[in-house]
Order: sequence, then C-alpha cells, then structure tokens
Amino acid sequence: ATVTYDFNITWVTANPDGMADRPVIGINGAWPLPIIRVDVGDRLIVNVLNSLGNQSTSLHFHGLFQNGTNEMDGPVYVTQCPIPPGSRFTYNFTIDQPGTYWYHSHTHGQYPDGLRAPLIVHDPASPFRDLYDEEVVMSVSDWYHEQMPGLLKWFISKANPTGAEPVPKSALLNETQNLTVPVTPGRTYLFRMVNIGAFAGQYVWFEGHNVTVVEIDGVYTHPTETGMIYLAAAQRYSFLITARDDTEGNFPFVASMDTDMFDTLPDDLNWNVTGWLVYDASKPLPDPAVLPDPSFSPLDDTTLLPWDNQTLLGEPDRIVTLDVAMDNLGDGANYAFFNNITYVSPKIPTLYTVLTTGDNNLNLATDPAVYGTYTSSFVLEKNQIVEVVVNNRDAGKHPFHLHGHHFQTVFRSDEDAGDFISDYYLQNLSATVAPMRRDTVVVRPNGHLVLRFRADNPGVWLFHCHIEWHVASGLVATFIEAPHEIIQQKRTRTLPADHLAACVAAGVPT
Ligand code: C2O
Repeated sequence: ATVTYDFNITWVTANPDGMADRPVIGINGAWPLPIIRVDVGDRLIVNVLNSLGNQSTSLHFHGLFQNGTNEMDGPVYVTQCPIPPGSRFTYNFTIDQPGTYWYHSHTHGQYPDGLRAPLIVHDPASPFRDLYDEEVVMSVSDWYHEQMPGLLKWFISKANPTGAEPVPKSALLNETQNLTVPVTPGRTYLFRMVNIGAFAGQYVWFEGHNVTVVEIDGVYTHPTETGMIYLAAAQRYSFLITARDDTEGNFPFVASMDTDMFDTLPDDLNWNVTGWLVYDASKPLPDPAVLPDPSFSPLDDTTLLPWDNQTLLGEPDRIVTLDVAMDNLGDGANYAFFNNITYVSPKIPTLYTVLTTGDNNLNLATDPAVYGTYTSSFVLEKNQIVEVVVNNRDAGKHPFHLHGHHFQTVFRSDEDAGDFISDYYLQNLSATVAPMRRDTVVVRPNGHLVLRFRADNPGVWLFHCHIEWHVASGLVATFIEAPHEIIQQKRTRTLPADHLAACVAAGVPT
C-alpha cells in the first residue's frame, strides 16, 4: 500500500514540563507530532510544506535503509539541500524492514526544538505477533527551555571553552510529564520505546513488572528479560510487559536521565519523569519507590542475541579507524574530531558531488579542493565487509549512529580500556558468535568499539554521534558506498524537481 502524510511544518507554542511556554516546531498546527505508521512493504510518501518562515528544514527517517533511494535520507548537504521556508518537498520511498524507528529534522541542530517523533513499521509476520494483545508507542526525551539556534551559538563559541553541553531542563515521556497508560489485568503489551532526545541517555524501569526485550533498533532479538533498560539518544527498544492479574493498585514507571553525561547539575534540573500503568483510574498514582542510583545496571545491549542468529561477518576487506577527540582549533571554541578532522558541512550535497564526478574521478568525492571544505570521507567498494573501529579518547559517552545499515557490534570495551588492540581481540573472537546488530550504539568513556557491516547499500551515508551538540561540533564522518553503482542508478533515475529547486534556492549549482 501507499501511505501518505501531509506535513505542514510550523511554529506552535508548547509547555510540556509545565515550567515554560516556548515556541516548538509543530506539524499541521499541533505538537507533539504525529506518529508515522506503515506496514512492511509499504510506500511512504511525506509531503512537506516548510511554513517555519525563519528556518529551512529537512526530514530524516532514522534507521531506514533507503536502499535505492539515498536521496530521500534527509541529512542536509549530504543527500539533499535544505528545504527553504515557503517551499514544498516530497519524501517518497518503500520500506522493507520491520520495527521501531523515528523521524527527525537533520539540519542545523533543529530536532530538539520539537521536530521529532516515532515511526513504526508493523510486521504481520513478526515472530512475536501472537505474544501480545496491544501495542504502546512511547518516546522518552530530554527538554530544553531555550531554542536551539541560541544554545548552539553559545555551545560553539569562545564563551564555552570547556565544550560543556547545555544541560536539559526536564525529562519527558511522550513529550509530557503526565503520561498514564491504561492497562487491563492479564493482557500483554508490546511497548515500543524511542529515545528522541538531543543528548541524555535514559534509564527506564517499571515498578512491579519485568520487561522482556524483543527488538532493538529494528532488529528482532531472542526474548530477554530484564529489570532496567538504557536508551541512548536515538536508540529504540521493544519489550513485552504482561499486566498483573489484579487491579489492586497502579504502578509507576520512570525514565531517568543519565546525569553522568552532564558537566553540571543545576538545581532546577528535573532529571526524572514518571508515568503510570493504570489498572484502576479511581486509585492513586503512587510515587516511584526506587530513586536514581549510581549503581544502576541496565541490560547490556551487546549481550542480546539477534533472532535470526546471523553470525559474525567474515574478515574485513576494509578497516576504518576513527579516533574521537574533543579539543579546540586554537580559536578558543571547542570542536569534536574524528582523526583530527572536525566535520564541516560541504557546500554541495556529497551525493551530488559523487553523481557529477563521474566514474573515473571518484577521488574527487573525497578531495577537499572539490568540496571546498574538509570532511572525513571514506569510499567503500560494493559488498566489502567494513570494520569500523572507534577509539574514544574522550571522557564522555557517545552514541554512534550509521545511516543506511544495521552494523554488528562485534566488541565494546569497558570504560577506560584505551584504544583497540587488534591482537587481543582476534584471539578472543569466534566465527560462530552472533553479534547484536543495531543502528546506534554507545562507546564508553575512553573505551573502544568494533563494528562490522557489509557495504551492500550504494549511497552516501553519515556516521555520527547522535548527541545533537556533537553533530554541531563536527563528530561526523561520511561513507561513500559503492560510488560506481550510485552513478549507474543515476542513469536510470533523475533527481526529483523539488530536490533541484531546494539547491537553486540555496545557491548551489546543480
Ligand atoms: Cu537520527 Cu543522522 O540521524
């Protein structure tokens, strides 16, 4: 089927934590935003009208592979030009993967101002379809009282020499602090939870109930019971909860921001948000009994087993090592670096550069002289097994996200383990392991990560920290995957007129 959404994107006013009215980015005059729902195999059409007036925009459909539709991926100056105020732009692609995703703006740090919501791909053939009666979609997020343009300006400035990220004011569940979920005794619910926040990871637990995880980031898992999960920014967990057999009381559940990530803990910080499973609306909504605790031990996602038991991808054909650092460029302001390069957005979308450099000039796609700027770009050949090694030489956690793929999390070190040393790792790796796959994974402070994926999706795909502050400060790299095939696809398919018009409006030669 074809599922169509018409999104008129405008400023509206909201006050989700009851502390301050502020402008937020709404759709069709409302905020929170609509959840996009499709079935596996559907074509999704999102007709965007940018009525913001003062800002350009874009939409990214986080976690969707966009196989054959790279130009619909959404990141500005990667696969498209920004959608200028007053103009229309259509996203149109098919979705062949089940699971829990989300959509958000992918330009100038905009999504924490509100342009973010879940996207659910229902699967009639889900292996868990018979195990639950109802589905509950739930977002968790952090919330700021000031708008992003001002916060970003301060963040990347000499006024902030330590690179301290602005600390959010509140945690939200479904963009509110008043969430109640009615439940019926004995019924089983599939919760689909998405961290749509800008920065904070969140611990989530349900008092009086265990949760059984069955999916992360669109990958089904062997059902795994746990008392607590942790969702970094952009991560998703689906889990089953069976309601208790009686209606003797209602039960709180809590999302608690990971305050280890914050440089300061302001007095007015609201780092918890409570929701309730409501068995009987006439009974009280109790306060949570468990309070945030430094000894929290949520489920370790790397211990999950994918439902399909897909084993380790073989020896890599290509190893990309990314050393992460936060430092300044001598101008007093702080930036983020992969291999000493801080990402600066190109002036021409990278995809278009690939399309115009031609078969014999692929080097140009990574040539700073052509870009007019410096980026970390890596050209991958079709079907290569790519290993990405991330050495986090920074004392913070970073949730890294790869567009267009699920990667295998082959190895994640403990905190303070230092750089990856391949000998140790090769000795300990068995070809029969089935590493968990997802699209966003956390590297621990001063630790490392080893990821693998197959370069089977021709296109230009970002790899970046999903903390929106770190996107702004340059913790972004670009994979240019199977460029010969991108060029060949171009011969059979032209870019839609609205894509070209957006570039004309931005003054980009097309
Ligand atoms: Cu949620 Cu670059 O993405």
